[in-house]
Amino acid sequence: MTQSSTPPASSNVVWHNATVTRARREAQNQHKGAIVWFTGLSGAGKSTLAHAVEEALHQQGCRTFVLDGDNVRHGLCGDLSFSSADRIENIRRVGEVAKLFMEAGVIVLTAFISPFRADRERVRGMVGHGEFVEVYCNSPIEVCETRDVKGLYKKARAGVISDFTGISSPYEAPDNPELTVNTGAATLDNCVADTLEAMRKRGILQRSL
Ligand code: ADX
Repeated sequence: MTQSSTPPASSNVVWHNATVTRARREAQNQHKGAIVWFTGLSGAGKSTLAHAVEEALHQQGCRTFVLDGDNVRHGLCGDLSFSSADRIENIRRVGEVAKLFMEAGVIVLTAFISPFRADRERVRGMVGHGEFVEVYCNSPIEVCETRDVKGLYKKARAGVISDFTGISSPYEAPDNPELTVNTGAATLDNCVADTLEAMRKRGILQRSL
């Protein structure tokens, strides 16, 4: 595992190097560890796509894990609200966890709104070139709102939920994502295929996978 660039707040903590290295894990897995970072509005289809990509990868024998906003907010980030400061902290923690998974040789697929460009870029900067694949799930808010799978847009419009992304809290679309998928209109199969191709192109998967 590579040492973090963030110095620890406490003194007297010393880095310990593993003998089972990332390279050895990747050789055993026959694919690279990587972070595939899905970003987009609530209801854009991030979790659906992340799980569908995971299903395809798992069937090919890849080691994968999905970190999902709603789930992580039940545990690791259960103390956080949807204020801007707490969203920043949410993504900081998730970035660190995703990096640990990646170092363990896993393809980690993250499904968080992650509305702030700077936070996503910070995670990108924590890992090597080509190891962070940003996938912008681009679905117009009208489509997300029409779907309203969890009934949250209705509540946000009614003022029952505050700080709601796209309504009362900002979403900053990526400037230069590795991939944009039109989750508002394209089929799930197409979005999965595009994501897998983006991973192959970066050498995360062998061509045959
Ligand atoms: S993030 O902004 O910090 O990245 P995250 O992905 O963890 O958000 O959580 C988003 C999920 O929480 C949404 O899919 C939705 O189900 C739920 N949620 C509850 N309240 C809000 C809110 N105010 N804004 C956005 N999502 C909310």
